[in-house]
Amino acid sequence: MSTWTPVCDLSALDPERGVAALVDGVQVALFLLDDGRVLGVANHDPFSGANVVSRGIVGSRGERTTVTSPMHKQVWDLVTGECLDAAGKEPVDLPAFPVEVRDGVVHVGS
Ligand code: FES
Repeated sequence: MSTWTPVCDLSALDPERGVAALVDGVQVALFLLDDGRVLGVANHDPFSGANVVSRGIVGSRGERTTVTSPMHKQVWDLVTGECLDAAGKEPVDLPAFPVEVRDGVVHVGS
């Protein structure tokens, strides 16, 4: 985890809404949460095969912050990428990416 890529200004993100960013050739779905954290997971939805995770719905399961696929409603932990609900399929986790905000700029590690 040695490379940090600046992707956008923090002010470009809307709370509880995802955006897709291209980091080193990989699409990352970034989410600014109401508590100020910015989390990143792969934008590629392994169930539908589409790059749609950034358009998923932010929610929670107990203490865990989640994103639900807009396609087939699978649910992942936004911090770890762990698949929490495969909606009847074999669970497939999402790669999770470290995110840091430095000087108001969102950086993604890869
Ligand atoms: S290190 Fe990237 S903006 Fe400061």
